Amino acid sequence: MADNVVDVAVVGASGYAARELFRILARHRRARVTVATSRQGDANRVEDLHPSLRGRIALACEPFDADAVARRAAFAFLGLPHTASLEVVPALRRRGVKVIDLSADYRLKDPQVYADWYGHPHTDPEGLLEAVYGLPELYRGEVAGASLIANPGCYTSTSILALAPLVAADLIERDTVVIDAKSGVSGAGRVPKPSTLYSECNENFSAYSVGRHRHTPEIDQVLTAVGRNRDAAPVEVVFTPHLAPMDRGIFATIYARPKHAVGEHEILDLFRSFYRESPFVRVVDGLPTTKDSAFTNFFDVTARLVRGRIVILACLDNLVKGAAGVAVQNFNLMIGADEAEGLH
Ligand SMILES: NC(=O)c1ccc[n+]([C@@H]2O[C@H](COP(=O)([O-])OP(=O)(O)OC[C@H]3O[C@@H](n4cnc5c(N)ncnc54)[C@H](OP(=O)(O)O)[C@@H]3O)[C@@H](O)[C@H]2O)c1
Repeated sequence: MADNVVDVAVVGASGYAARELFRILARHRRARVTVATSRQGDANRVEDLHPSLRGRIALACEPFDADAVARRAAFAFLGLPHTASLEVVPALRRRGVKVIDLSADYRLKDPQVYADWYGHPHTDPEGLLEAVYGLPELYRGEVAGASLIANPGCYTSTSILALAPLVAADLIERDTVVIDAKSGVSGAGRVPKPSTLYSECNENFSAYSVGRHRHTPEIDQVLTAVGRNRDAAPVEVVFTPHLAPMDRGIFATIYARPKHAVGEHEILDLFRSFYRESPFVRVVDGLPTTKDSAFTNFFDVTARLVRGRIVILACLDNLVKGAAGVAVQNFNLMIGADEAEGLH
């Protein structure tokens, strides 16, 4: 029914996350993309920016104008870099538009932590207070009632979903968590930079931002909140990201010491029980691979016990479950649609 369809805008139309949003929204029965904004002047149709969308979405891009967006859309998905969202979010919210922000600008609850890690003061404390962290597997109820969603980072979704059942059950020593994570090159976005040139990353494998990657405080913040009912001690992870020579996907191998003896089956049962109402979490018996979840909204996870330590192996597609897919999952909850609409 036409009155069930919600008009939405995509801001930052030329980016990778935006491309995935268009791809998913084109088959969504409750959403219609009515506005696409972009700074690109010379290629001003969505299918010119993303030729893979030819025949699937017919829409001209336009420069960002908050009034124009508010006139023609009830929701806006922002596929902008951090700090750019800080300008756009308040302008849209003042005009009554609900926002799902894919950047990091509203994820860290303490503005000082944001300033420390992003090197920029937070200029929208009011928005920050109201933002809900958009990880439906943990915050389904809050997401449904939110007007501003801070969509999680891709490494963070992988790490948090892989650790939340263990932290919630108070099963692991909180200062023993080591996250060794690898990302495909699309995780760095479409805006070119030297490290993502073909000749730099093809047939190459490298670590980067060791000890200072910006997803670290986000992982700590959410996992500490998840475990707060059992133990006030903060979760402080050692997180090391790597760039893998593949287009897409995140693979995380995570190590932690259990607080007491536990069996492998017990851990897998704990995961299955924790995620029993989460349609996009697959707790697998075998070892997941990035190709198994590529182009899907699934998060695949398993666990092993090795020399008394818990080893979690987890995968997702950074552009889908790690960005646009979870954004649409959040949107579905906000409009009261089936959580999986458009995502299978
Ligand atoms: N890539 C991932 O796997 C992933 C996963 C999770 C979260 N995210 C987050 O999602 C956001 C978008 O990521 P992405 O990978 O799509 O990035 P991207 O491919 O680099 O696209 C970002 C888009 O934002 C617009 N833009 C760039 N600089 C801008 C500025 N200074 N002011 C206003 N607009 C600007 C551009 O679109 P126009 O030129 O069309 O305006 C650009 O194409 C980022 O905050 C990123 O951290 C990305």
